[in-house]
Amino acid sequence: MRHYVIAGVLVIVLAVATYAGLMAIHLMPVEASAQSIPIDHLWNIEIAIISFLFALIMVPLIYSLIVFRRRKGDTSDGEHIEGNNTLEITWTVIPLIVVLILAYIGTYTLGDVLAVDPNALEINVTARQWAWSFTYPEGFTAKELHLLVNQPVVLDMQSVDVIHSFWVPQFRIKQDVLPGRITTERITPILIGNYTVTCAQLCGTGHTYMTAPVIVSTQADYDTWIQAQVAAATVAAQTPIGRGQQLVAQNGCASCHSIDGSSTGIAPTWKGLYQSQVKLSGGTNVAPGTVVIANEAYLIESIVNPSAKIVNGFQDNVMPKSFGTTLTQSQISDIVAYIETLK
Ligand code: CUA
Repeated sequence: MRHYVIAGVLVIVLAVATYAGLMAIHLMPVEASAQSIPIDHLWNIEIAIISFLFALIMVPLIYSLIVFRRRKGDTSDGEHIEGNNTLEITWTVIPLIVVLILAYIGTYTLGDVLAVDPNALEINVTARQWAWSFTYPEGFTAKELHLLVNQPVVLDMQSVDVIHSFWVPQFRIKQDVLPGRITTERITPILIGNYTVTCAQLCGTGHTYMTAPVIVSTQADYDTWIQAQVAAATVAAQTPIGRGQQLVAQNGCASCHSIDGSSTGIAPTWKGLYQSQVKLSGGTNVAPGTVVIANEAYLIESIVNPSAKIVNGFQDNVMPKSFGTTLTQSQISDIVAYIETLK
């Protein structure tokens, strides 16, 4: 009996210490959405159960190793034990009840997280290799996700190519983004700040770079940003260069092609590209080492048929081959007009 009391006390002490230790190292980032609260609540219950189970296994194990170790000169066999039905039933029924309770809380939490709010602001999210773009109710598209604090939003998400996954750790929820099907994610941001949406589904060479800023701001800051975007979009739509710049943002070109001469390692920069000499490593009917001038025809060909000429130092099959069909001819010439300005 004495052993049970000592081991029991040690189990409680170790369980509390493990739980306190796991809580102290902050396994989760800040809670920045209303959805993160019930999710963390469930998570904390699970951490408490895990801490208790850890103690329940480790204490008897280590206690037995030390207290019941074989003494010097003791050559007798251990006591023979033949099953214990009460113990078997107990350690089957108790975990079963615990799992059922967790399933109930889990279902309840899922209901909370997916709850439809009729006042939710609708934002369309497009995922592509390897960029995010966000189309707002006002009609413009941006590379950043701006959210208003305490305003529920519903993200209607779709991919134009492969499977991606929308994940902002501070919001807790993660949702796959699929081609040919709209998936939704509901967020009510509750904490003003800057976050990052990360793609959480391996989607190709540029997967690591598939991030976008998420800004949660006050009503005043949000309104200012929206008005500035609407004004900029209206102005930009009037010139080919402006339209090209918008198309570049919508199609995520800049996540691989820098416009300031910096290297992304994925694709050539656009700065100073127009009319420059480009050394090729190959391509359809092109000998390695060929040098071409990046004129208008070259830029158009590189958009619609990226395998035709491969720039030295970069790989084939990285640039999507779909732009020849997803963009119209006039859209392509707008993009080219924009690239030509990047001197
Ligand atoms: Cu998109 Cu990984």
